[in-house]
Amino acid sequence: MNKSGIVTGASSGIGFAISQVLCDMGYEVYGFGRDFEREETHEFVQKTETFHAVAGDLLDTNKVCDKVKQIAKETQVKVLVNAAGVGYYGLHEHLTVSQIQTMVRTNLELPLILTNRLLRVLKENDGYIINISSITAKQSSPHGCAYGATKAGLTGFGMSLFEEARKYGVKVTTIHPDMTQTNLYRDADFTCADEDNCYLNASEVADAVRYVLNQRDGLVVPDITLRPQFHRIAKK
Ligand SMILES: NC(=O)c1ccc[n+]([C@@H]2O[C@H](COP(=O)([O-])OP(=O)(O)OC[C@H]3O[C@@H](n4cnc5c(N)ncnc54)[C@H](OP(=O)(O)O)[C@@H]3O)[C@@H](O)[C@H]2O)c1
Repeated sequence: MNKSGIVTGASSGIGFAISQVLCDMGYEVYGFGRDFEREETHEFVQKTETFHAVAGDLLDTNKVCDKVKQIAKETQVKVLVNAAGVGYYGLHEHLTVSQIQTMVRTNLELPLILTNRLLRVLKENDGYIINISSITAKQSSPHGCAYGATKAGLTGFGMSLFEEARKYGVKVTTIHPDMTQTNLYRDADFTCADEDNCYLNASEVADAVRYVLNQRDGLVVPDITLRPQFHRIAKK
């Protein structure tokens, strides 16, 4: 059976860059996302035989769980990367109920459920769970209270899961990127500042995943934080 990786949020930004790294490292990658037709991903998705795009809404929990079960039957799932995420920013009172629910479900509920569904096979395969949290999990995040809360939840989950799963041979890593140049800020009134020392690139976060996976078997990297040199944002 081929060794495989499951990556959520594989259609854009950090999840896409991680998918490229996993393919490069010899994994069959099952990448979940909605839109695989974007200019920046289209060619890779079309040309890479080891990348399998699973297009659909990740909040359709039953469908996603069925698909993951099928992948686990047909391949040796070695890596789960929870990278799908959404961010809505602004004063907390200005968020809609639907925005809050979407963030909680995408950023927190989904990684909890996918981990729950896959832990048994990941134990059998001495696998990895890599959660893409955020620097907002570690500090206060005014105008991002709910987003930061979902990421703090994910980080808390990862810390406890690391202790629970390590004795079964599963390696749990939480990555905390600071501002990264992706589509995440599409709905925000700010984005990354222009200077390249004020943001991370998605490929740099993916390099951290390569680092995690390249360690010798007895070494786990539970936590990585990545920050640009300067803290600056640009108003739209
Ligand atoms: N960019 C940053 O500054 C930054 C910093 C720290 C942490 N992060 C975290 O990094 C992760 C990746 O975000 P990104 O920055 O790469 O942003 P992005 O380019 O917007 O990517 C988000 C990904 O999540 C997918 N997604 C979201 N909701 C989905 C749903 N309901 N069904 C299917 N796919 C869904 C998107 O799919 P479609 O686009 O196809 O809909 C996309 O592939 C997120 O968890 C984010 O919170 C980002």
